[in-house]
Amino acid sequence: MQHEYILVKKSGPLQGQVTVSGAKNAALPILASLVLTSGVSVLKNVPHLTDIESMVGLLESLGAVITKDYAAGILVVDTTNIHRWKISEEMMQKTRASIVILGPLMARFQKADVAFPGGDMIGARPIDYHLKNFKKMGAEITEQGNVICLHAQKLTAQRFVLDYPSVGATQNILMAAVLIPGTSYIVNAAIEPEVMDLIGILTKMGAQISLEYPAALKIVGVEKLQPVEYSIMTDRLEVGSLLIAAAITGGNVYLPNACADDMELFLMKLEEMGHQIIHEAAGGIRLIASKNPQAVSFKTAPYPGIATDLQPLLMIAQAVSQGKCEAIETVFENRFLHVPYLQLMGAQMQVLGSHKAVVTGVKKLQGAVVVATDIRASCALVLAGLVAEGSTMVYGVSHWRRGYEDLDEKLRSLGAHIEFVKHL
Ligand code: UD1
Repeated sequence: MQHEYILVKKSGPLQGQVTVSGAKNAALPILASLVLTSGVSVLKNVPHLTDIESMVGLLESLGAVITKDYAAGILVVDTTNIHRWKISEEMMQKTRASIVILGPLMARFQKADVAFPGGDMIGARPIDYHLKNFKKMGAEITEQGNVICLHAQKLTAQRFVLDYPSVGATQNILMAAVLIPGTSYIVNAAIEPEVMDLIGILTKMGAQISLEYPAALKIVGVEKLQPVEYSIMTDRLEVGSLLIAAAITGGNVYLPNACADDMELFLMKLEEMGHQIIHEAAGGIRLIASKNPQAVSFKTAPYPGIATDLQPLLMIAQAVSQGKCEAIETVFENRFLHVPYLQLMGAQMQVLGSHKAVVTGVKKLQGAVVVATDIRASCALVLAGLVAEGSTMVYGVSHWRRGYEDLDEKLRSLGAHIEFVKHL
């Protein structure tokens, strides 16, 4: 069997400019949302990632006809002949985000038979908030082994109150509610930029959605939604990853299509560390790294808090700064799986319980053989390799491919020494 790793060598300050790809976490629910329409829609700025291919395969298995031009970032999706509401276990296991097909299927067929989803190993990742609210909408839910069947006679508009602002549950309920007659509310809704991008396409299709105080989405059901042409937002998680790469290597990097509004707390933390963040007049963000960055404590939280996906990246930035800080993870309970590998590279990090780690900055990291356990951990380990003495071999390449479009190429264009290596 052939194996593959990412070989990273210590690199000088990253310098230059790169265009960031479209956001995977916006593209996935947006692809699912096309099930709400009948006809041909065009999606632009779609990143070419294995998670996207999995969602495309899932839609095709339902009867969608999809023309792919990944090089141009364009998918033309014809949903006219979608006739199935059952999804195979194999399809669901490919990506955790497949769960957001439930809402569109419930809206189109009032039934959906799916398996529990797969995805990253970060936390237990239950789907109780989703199921509880489909029940409230009128669905009968039965479980047979790993398969969940949702069947409803009729869906009814409700006031859905979420235990927690779950991104996936908000997207699922939203997509089911847009076609339910009457007015629905999602209270304690997630308002992540990726949720707002989904609202963007749904609105363009003809849905009536507004954001109301206090963090509630008001949805007035419409009879029908139209196919559309829509461009996916820029990936703020790739923006964060590139800014950290610039910060830790002492670089100067400009991302012309980055959107600062999507990540203000994260940018504030980089500034508190001493890095310079410049909002360029032409648009986008430039980071000029501090020569003497200070470690700062931070906490992840639902938007507008710091995204949990940026936690492993921010941790590596603290690991090579001066001083001591705390990283508090409030969103997932198992998101420090990258820590043992960073420790292996010489980082001083201590995990205290399931939500807290203490990081003490060190002057040097050493290259090592490490394994990525999820998408963002793969990036944190690659970035650690950029500042570690010698070579770092990062296994778990599939995670990188699930979440980052050509980021290796982009990093290389900024001066990073990084390449994929295959071996037996
Ligand atoms: C999405 C993102 C993921 C990001 C996360 C939080 C996609 C494809 N993935 O994941 O990258 O890290 O938002 O910003 O967009 N929970 C429950 N029960 C539920 C649903 C969630 O207990 O029914 C818990 C989860 O275990 C977690 C927290 O709620 O602790 C947040 O999860 P959620 O916001 O739902 O994350 P995802 O939508 O899965």
